[in-house]
Amino acid sequence: MDYRNIIVETRDRVGLIRFNRPQQLNALNGAIMEELVAAAEDFDKSDAIGAIVITGDERAFAAGADIKEMAEASAVEMLTADRISLWDRLRKVRKVIIAAVSGFCLGGGCELAMACDMIVASESAKFGQPEINLGVIPGAGGTQRLTRAVGKAIAMEVVLNGRFLSAEEAYRFGLCNRVAPVEQYLGEALRLANEIAARAPLAVRFGKEAVNNAFENFLADGLADERRAFYFLFSTDDQKEGMKAFIDKRKPEWKGR
Ligand code: CAA
Repeated sequence: MDYRNIIVETRDRVGLIRFNRPQQLNALNGAIMEELVAAAEDFDKSDAIGAIVITGDERAFAAGADIKEMAEASAVEMLTADRISLWDRLRKVRKVIIAAVSGFCLGGGCELAMACDMIVASESAKFGQPEINLGVIPGAGGTQRLTRAVGKAIAMEVVLNGRFLSAEEAYRFGLCNRVAPVEQYLGEALRLANEIAARAPLAVRFGKEAVNNAFENFLADGLADERRAFYFLFSTDDQKEGMKAFIDKRKPEWKGR
């Protein structure tokens, strides 16, 4: 595959995937997600690779799904295109995936980081699910994985009030594995990934699967409910207003319909 939105490299036995839409804060449009999933699946098949690191740049891991791409979509269009089903393929990758997160890690970006097996954050990382400001809710696992990771109280604030979590808070609440200075977070993630890549591959694979099973009981039902609610909200005036207001750089006016 010819990659235009990501940069794919190998570092020793680690496959490194970097988002490359810096002007849009690595907003996750359809093309970038297609490329990400294809690259992760390629690394998963390669015997030369033992683990995968996904990263953005210092300013943003990813600032969410691409609002400009979906602002005008109807609920039926969202449901029919079902773009988020592409993410299910990431869940099937057997090798360990580590998210190396710096700067904005919001909306779909936060959901993507949480869909990885571990998160290494830079001190500047900001985690959040600000979809509420757009008149919608997270649609790619945010309400489910965040709640399991940090518990109900914090998850409610993040999902309903758009609260951002600092790297230190994310570490304290159990959302991320380690926090490193900005100059070191990627190196730290690669080191961790290389350590895992040096271990017995089948034991690592089954270890990952087993921990995810403990974490993901009933996850499939929760993800399906969340996704339906997210698509449904595209039939509301508030979603149209919320996303248009973001694009126009003004405050939205909610109507409750
Ligand atoms: N989609 C599309 N474009 C985005 C974007 C997004 N999610 N986030 C940022 N951008 C674009 C901006 O529109 C801007 O583009 P222009 O220069 O063409 O205007 C560029 O990236 C830089 O962004 P800002 O000028 O806004 O940068 P800032 O430093 O002032 O603010 C920010 C940074 C707080 C992250 C702000 O960009 C922001 O609030 N972004 C949106 C975050 C968000 O709501 N994410 C959730 C998306 S919905 C979702 O993810 C659904 C899901 O669950 C699947």
